[in-house]
Amino acid sequence: MAVERISTGIPGLDAMLHGGLIPGRVYLVKGAPGTGKTTLAVHFAMAGVGRGENILYVTLEEPAENLKVDMGKLGFNLNDPRFSLIDATPTAERYVLIRDFFEEFAGNIERMTESIKRQFQEKRYTRVVIDPITMLKLTATEEIDYRRAFLGFMKSMMRLKTTVLLTSELEKTDIEEYLVSGVIELKTFNAGGRLTRALRITKLRGSGFDNAIRSYEITDRGIVVHNDRMISLP
Ligand SMILES: Nc1ncnc2c1ncn2[C@@H]1O[C@H](COP(=O)(O)OP(=O)(O)OP(=O)(O)O)[C@@H](O)[C@H]1O
Ligand SMILES: [Mg+2]
Repeated sequence: MAVERISTGIPGLDAMLHGGLIPGRVYLVKGAPGTGKTTLAVHFAMAGVGRGENILYVTLEEPAENLKVDMGKLGFNLNDPRFSLIDATPTAERYVLIRDFFEEFAGNIERMTESIKRQFQEKRYTRVVIDPITMLKLTATEEIDYRRAFLGFMKSMMRLKTTVLLTSELEKTDIEEYLVSGVIELKTFNAGGRLTRALRITKLRGSGFDNAIRSYEITDRGIVVHNDRMISLP
């Protein structure tokens, strides 16, 4: 029996994933600043919205208003009622206004897990995005505690039967990469004086995948993956 797949919202990436992501699991998108992690995450979220699903998107670094404007330019309407956007960015104003809210999310992975579970009591979300998880990691004191908390988070998400996409701009994400079901890596590099973008899948549990490094572009309609174009990294 064919495994059910859900679209990332990017046709070329779905093809690389042999049809899309396996639902009910946790995935990581990693890449340096500006590589397109947020854009990819919004494609994934809006693909769910397009199917009439409810989506929960937690933004921890880019304020909600900026995100709406930037993604609006790429044709995404983040004001859709099916798209629930939680702004957990630590701006001074927010810190004063709803300090608990920020602390609840950004300070600690266990509290974030509890907050997300509470959100599910009101509505069922088929997709959850946490963009990025950096702060949660950097505020963890002991690696072993972080690992345990991260595993607890993943188990909770699986129990909620939701598909989760996490982003990270950190170089070192071995704990997460080891624990999640799939990893997509975004890279930019200089090829003959031009900024070139390339992506690869480094892990996808329960499925085969295209193991080539493929080029992608960020256009005024978002990310386009050229899954017919292979790249040799310098
Ligand atoms: N219309 C467009 N055409 C080309 N590139 C664009 C367009 N709109 C945005 N970009 C590029 O997309 C990139 C931003 O993507 P995005 O915010 O998804 O990256 P990110 O990996 O989430 O970055 P960060 O780590 O800073 O959060 C920028 O490099 C920007 O120049
Ligand atoms: Mg981003």
